[in-house]
Amino acid sequence: MNELVWVLIVDDEPMLRQTLEDILKKRGFAPVSAGTGRQALEELVRREFSVVLLDLRLDDMSGMAVLSRIRERWPDTQCILLTGHASQDSAIEAVNLGAYSYVMKPCDMEQLLLTIRRAAEKWQMAGSLRRSEASYRRLHDSMTDAFVVVDMEGRLLEWNKVFSSMLGYMDEELRQLSYMDLTPVEWRDMEKRMVEEQIIPHGYSEVYEKQYRRKDGSILPVELRTYLLRESNGQPSGMWAIVRDISQRKKDEGEKSRLEEQLIQAQKLESIGRLAGGVAHDFNNLLTVILGYGELVMQDMHKEHPSYESLRLICQAGLRARDLTRQLLAFSRKQLLEMQVVDINMVVKGFEKLICRVIGEDIDLQLVLPAQPLPVKADTSQLEQVLMNLAVNARDAMPEGGTLTIETSLVDLDEQYAAQKPGVIPGRYIQIAVSDTGCGMDHETAGLIFEPFFTTKAKDKGTGLGLATSYGIIKQHNGNIWAYSEPGRGTIFKIHLPLARESLSKGKSVTAEPTDLHGNETILLVEDDLQMRKLTQIILKRQGYTVLVAENGQDALTLLDNFKGPVHLVLTDVVMPGMSGKELSDRICERIPDVKVLFMSGYSGNVIAHRGVIGDGVNFIPKPFPAQALAIKVRKVLEEDAL
Ligand SMILES: Nc1ncnc2c1ncn2[C@@H]1O[C@H](COP(=O)(O)OP(=O)(O)OP(=O)(O)O)[C@@H](O)[C@H]1O
Ligand SMILES: [Mg+2]
Repeated sequence: MNELVWVLIVDDEPMLRQTLEDILKKRGFAPVSAGTGRQALEELVRREFSVVLLDLRLDDMSGMAVLSRIRERWPDTQCILLTGHASQDSAIEAVNLGAYSYVMKPCDMEQLLLTIRRAAEKWQMAGSLRRSEASYRRLHDSMTDAFVVVDMEGRLLEWNKVFSSMLGYMDEELRQLSYMDLTPVEWRDMEKRMVEEQIIPHGYSEVYEKQYRRKDGSILPVELRTYLLRESNGQPSGMWAIVRDISQRKKDEGEKSRLEEQLIQAQKLESIGRLAGGVAHDFNNLLTVILGYGELVMQDMHKEHPSYESLRLICQAGLRARDLTRQLLAFSRKQLLEMQVVDINMVVKGFEKLICRVIGEDIDLQLVLPAQPLPVKADTSQLEQVLMNLAVNARDAMPEGGTLTIETSLVDLDEQYAAQKPGVIPGRYIQIAVSDTGCGMDHETAGLIFEPFFTTKAKDKGTGLGLATSYGIIKQHNGNIWAYSEPGRGTIFKIHLPLARESLSKGKSVTAEPTDLHGNETILLVEDDLQMRKLTQIILKRQGYTVLVAENGQDALTLLDNFKGPVHLVLTDVVMPGMSGKELSDRICERIPDVKVLFMSGYSGNVIAHRGVIGDGVNFIPKPFPAQALAIKVRKVLEEDAL
């Protein structure tokens, strides 16, 4: 033995003590002597002894009393009783009470030494066992993961605190339960397969996920790995598992996939938008030509003409196509917006009557508008379009009647909110909430509603463009629109538009509708598309105007230089190769300060919108336009200052 073995000799006979001490020292032990029971206990407190040689007869207390104290306080310490023949019975009793052994006096020294050595070995084993048990305990209790041991029948044998608190059970309650009681039915087969296919054949399982049912009935998602326990003969005796609570991770994953879903949806709408926008833009130009010439021919034709009706139908179909194209343009955010700072409450109030008429008498309209104005920079007619689309949808969702509520408010969208919604920039927003008490929709439908042509309505009832258009309009206003709905529980649409920092616009002075659409002013027409140019020229000439025509900005400037008479109006396309319509108008205004400018455009590229061409007080007419609309607009612009 390399470690010192401390032996306490307890005997009231000094001679014997001395002799034993000497012999033990010689044999490499570390002996300490005590003459009384009290002394012995004092020594035991001072240091840990492996072995105590204890005389049963002591002066101050009985050896049995000392033994029981030692058993109680120092259970690893081994006691060897020294006894004479007369007290052999008590010695045997003492062994029954936990003494290691007894040796008869007078002692056979070799036998005594052997007994001491064996006792010391036992002490050492007990000690190391206790130490490893203690460190196992510490490990067990300090584990942040849960730990559980079951037998092959699934009875719970052992677990740590994490396991019981994770499941919300007291230890006594867990003892009455089996592993299957903790496992929801739908997971039992999977886990049984895990045991049969992995744990028993390989000794352990891969890391797998499952759920437990907590005491309160709630579900706990966990991740675990299970190991097999075997008897010494190799028979499986049970299993143990390390279990990790993954509810937070699951929550994060759910959040992430929700965000991803939203992002994918936004990207999908974006790309459909680009496609639709591209097609719609070309259609727009074609339709302008079709409708323009159609209208011109109709004007020249007698109503009795055999082809008149056919022509009218062609134009009617063209108008319908134009409406669809407009909606697609709105969806793809290619509309030219007429931005003004407006109070959203005024927009809603101003539109109340029309909404009432659309939704009918069975539906109650509630407006909840705060007293303070809520300014946003917006194109009023476009916002009205959105409100109308939402109101019509709400009406369709409430065939038996119900309530449509439009509520406006000021909201702060903080970082936390923005983190949950892709594309949202934190800040102050105006919220418009449009809710109905209608049929609602399921999650899958709600995921598709902003896509163009998605409709659940009968063929002639809906085209599926209402919400797509609204989405595009709101996005073009740098806002967001969300739908929240559940089947049978109604639907709420929330729109967020950035709060305008500018003060409310005074609004354009309303120009009276001109009655006479003819004029004799001179108009400079700049348009790069040949057919559009020709058509526009014809329309203007018919109204009596003198029309100067240019194909691009440079030509227009040259033409102006050479033209001697006055020019009253410049009618120019916005997007043209070379010089843009905006640049051209700036250059012309330098030369002729009081010239009027009217822009025409099929769409606004972002560049134009961002450069602020379309702001307060800018005149424009969206392409395609009916001849009549152009005539009216031109007249209005020319007469504006005359008021
Ligand atoms: N308030 C609502 N309640 C229940 N479902 C709705 C609501 N609003 C929209 N939806 C669903 O979303 C779909 C798409 O709406 P959207 O306005 O884009 O097209 P639509 O109303 O079907 O046709 P369109 O508006 O072009 O006439 C609807 O067909 C309907 O299924
Ligand atoms: Mg609709």
